[in-house]
Amino acid sequence: MNYNQLIEAATTARRSAYAPYSQFSVGAALITKAGKIYTGCNIENVSLGLTICAERSAIATAIAQGSKDFDAIAVVTAGKTPAVPCGACRQVMAEFNPNMKIIAATVDGEVQEFDLAELLPFPAQGILEGLRDV
Ligand code: THU
Repeated sequence: MNYNQLIEAATTARRSAYAPYSQFSVGAALITKAGKIYTGCNIENVSLGLTICAERSAIATAIAQGSKDFDAIAVVTAGKTPAVPCGACRQVMAEFNPNMKIIAATVDGEVQEFDLAELLPFPAQGILEGLRDV
C-alpha cells in the first residue's frame, strides 16, 4: 500500500499541534480498513503529564466518530529520524488492532514502516483473566 496520502494528512494535522513546552509538533493520521482517515496532533499541558500524544488524539477522534477498524497510522515529526510511537500509544493502538501498521515519517521525507506486533509483543496476555473467571 502507498501511504503517501496518509502521511500528507498527518503532515497537515501536525500544523494544529499545541506544543508550547517541548516545541516538538507531531501529527498523526489513521486509516480504517474501509479507507476512512482520522487525524490528530499532540496537545500539551502546563501539568506536563497530562499531555496527549498525536496518535491517541487521532484514535480518540476516530472512536468518537464511530470507527475502530484501524489498518494503519502515520506519524509525522521534524528531526532527522522518524519518531516511533511511545509505549502508552502502542498499548492503546493494540486495543483496536495489535497488527496495525505504523508509518513513521519526517517532514523531510524519511519514512520507516513498522508492525505494531513487533513494537509491542504480548499486548494483553493474562490481563483481566482472573476477572473473566469470576
Ligand atoms: N509525542 C507524540 O505526540 N507522539 C509521539 O510518538 C512521540 C511524542 C509528543 C508528546 C509531547 O507533546 C512531545 O511529542 C514531546 O514528547
